[in-house]
Amino acid sequence: MTHKVTLLPGEGIGPEVAEATKRILEAAGVSIAWDEFDVRATREGQQGPLLAEAAVESVRRNKVALKGPMATVVAGGAPSVNVALRKTLDLYANLRPVRNLPGVKSRFENVNIVIVRENTEDLYSGLEHEVVPGVVESLKIITEKASTRIARFAFDYATRKNRKTIHAIHKANIMKLSDGLFLRSVRAVAADYPAITYKEMIVDNACMQLVMNPQQFEVLVLPNLYGDVVSDLGAGLVGGLGVVPSANIGDEAALFEAVHGTAPDIAGKGLANPTALLLSSLLMLEHLGEGVAARRIEEALELVYREGTHTTRDVGGQAGTAEFTDALIAALALAPVR
Ligand code: NAI
Repeated sequence: MTHKVTLLPGEGIGPEVAEATKRILEAAGVSIAWDEFDVRATREGQQGPLLAEAAVESVRRNKVALKGPMATVVAGGAPSVNVALRKTLDLYANLRPVRNLPGVKSRFENVNIVIVRENTEDLYSGLEHEVVPGVVESLKIITEKASTRIARFAFDYATRKNRKTIHAIHKANIMKLSDGLFLRSVRAVAADYPAITYKEMIVDNACMQLVMNPQQFEVLVLPNLYGDVVSDLGAGLVGGLGVVPSANIGDEAALFEAVHGTAPDIAGKGLANPTALLLSSLLMLEHLGEGVAARRIEEALELVYREGTHTTRDVGGQAGTAEFTDALIAALALAPVR
């Protein structure tokens, strides 16, 4: 079967890692008709979102998209294209699996956490205004509907993946109304899943626990902003942003993307590590019912990392994008299907 998938290669290293990912999926025999769109946040020095309506329509039609990084202007400029895509398509659940890859140097071993981040509201709503000169106000929006929806997603995911414990992360001791509502909503959902142990942890303690003993966690569910920060902390536990995937999932569409940015320092030099986008594409294959191909590619990826002679510089190797990709394609022939 041929799957139709929207591809947004993005900018910076995006097109390089997208090309590598396409080559690997094709070599693994997965048949995908790519509907490709060159959507960028910045173009020829001009700052501003060029969120092509046609690309969004394509994602709506195909229901599945793979996306490379896009630039966001810091403090000023237009709103983030990444955030706009998530909002327009109501991709309310951000899924970030964080686990060790064999051969990738990291501070911890045996980390295997899935971070489930609410993706549509909280301080990410971008509702800010200047009250009087020198004073700004930023609104933190938390709704029962979105909190319940993300909790349901997390518990269903844990049930499907046979994970036994979920931690809700919050700061309801201080933000009693907003985080309080988030927590009450998650608790109500937790009551429907007696087979899963439900725990709560304040976000600052959770950060400390994550860097002291990350193996205690299986699934975390968090409001948007804490989810954003804790996800990158999670990436840091297992080797950094170059080796972790993500999925943005809604009821109508799902968009899979690497969590790293456009890496302007190495863009166009053939040095980018495509692992993060490749792992994101494996989440996509699972979503498309191509789990067997996903596991075979993962096996080949682990072979390349274990062997260690064709890995990229960000993880301590010497190879460029093309050499890494060639090695992975060669390893597919050796990869047993699990
Ligand atoms: P970045 O992730 O682009 O780069 C941070 C460091 O990690 C750099 O040294 C870079 O070379 C390295 N790096 C990142 N990905 C890599 C890869 N695949 N292989 C090898 N090295 C890699 O973060 P930065 O510099 O903060 O952001 C640059 C731009 O990307 C900004 O405009 C930012 O807004 C945007 N961005 C976009 C994201 C998205 O589209 N989802 C996510 C994060 C940032």
